[in-house]
Amino acid sequence: MIEESGLAQVAYVRGEFLPLEKATLDIRTHAFLYGTSVFEGIRAYWVADQGQILVFRAKEHYARLERSCKILHLQCPLSFERMLELTAEILQKNQCQSDTYLRPIVYKADLRIDPFLNTPNTQDDFCLFTVPLQQYIDTRTGLHLGISSWRRLDDNMMPVRAKVSGAYVNSALAKTDAKLSGFDDAILLSEDGHVAEGSAMNLFLVRDGRLITPSVTSNILEGITRDTVIQLAKQELGIAVEGRSIDRTELYVADELFLCGTATEIAPVTKVDHRLIGNGKTGALTQQLQDLYQQVVRGQLPKYEAWLMVVPVTG
Ligand SMILES: Cc1ncc(COP(=O)(O)O)c(C=O)c1O
Repeated sequence: MIEESGLAQVAYVRGEFLPLEKATLDIRTHAFLYGTSVFEGIRAYWVADQGQILVFRAKEHYARLERSCKILHLQCPLSFERMLELTAEILQKNQCQSDTYLRPIVYKADLRIDPFLNTPNTQDDFCLFTVPLQQYIDTRTGLHLGISSWRRLDDNMMPVRAKVSGAYVNSALAKTDAKLSGFDDAILLSEDGHVAEGSAMNLFLVRDGRLITPSVTSNILEGITRDTVIQLAKQELGIAVEGRSIDRTELYVADELFLCGTATEIAPVTKVDHRLIGNGKTGALTQQLQDLYQQVVRGQLPKYEAWLMVVPVTG
């Protein structure tokens, strides 16, 4: 693939950087046959006047990737430090001078028919690519979400706190149905009928000045943006977040509602199932959190510099 700049893009695969078009897998690969790979979505923010790109909470993403590997019996062939180094290297090699999304993947590379995960001498591998990414979903105007008829996976069916590629069929079905029905995205309920999350984002609501989000035992992905929101709300706004199970109709009567995730960032929701949320505009607290989040990820709040990995990118 040639980017507009004319620069051939590379991906890291099978232990080396290769041109993207050569970064291909054998169709017999276990991960392709059975969805047995785990991944992360990481954002890096370009700061033009400093000639550097800021990778947001890279360590937390790789720590979650390692936890996902553990759950899926995957042996990541690279150390934590090497994955961080490769993250910086690929941003430099691809001369990423705009906001960028990074996708590291650990996958079961065996060429065999059999879903068993833990064979002797099993081969697991790591790959990584980048794509330019501005807005993943519209965060400026409010979203209209629909409650999906697809239920969110239960942790005893498919590990929900691991980012397993096969599990995204659940997200894909919910998102597709929502969009075909005229909504911007879906909210998935757990099998027990409580609110879990969006198709690939966590959810917060505001009621009477309280910030509430489904707890980590509500079949959610333990989102890094969710954690960022919890910390910013507490440290910058003095608001403690309540993590608990949420009923469907609490969404309808919420004063404010928003989704959050690495790709999504913070996206206000102003309608659910054709009901206006609050006054139908982005809520004041949502706006404050959205502004704070942008300042943090773009390196404008020195207090949170430890969350940023700084990578110089020269043209
Ligand atoms: C299913 C799901 N839930 C929530 C999130 C948000 O997680 P994070 O903030 O770590 O990106 C994501 C995105 O990674 C996701 O795929």
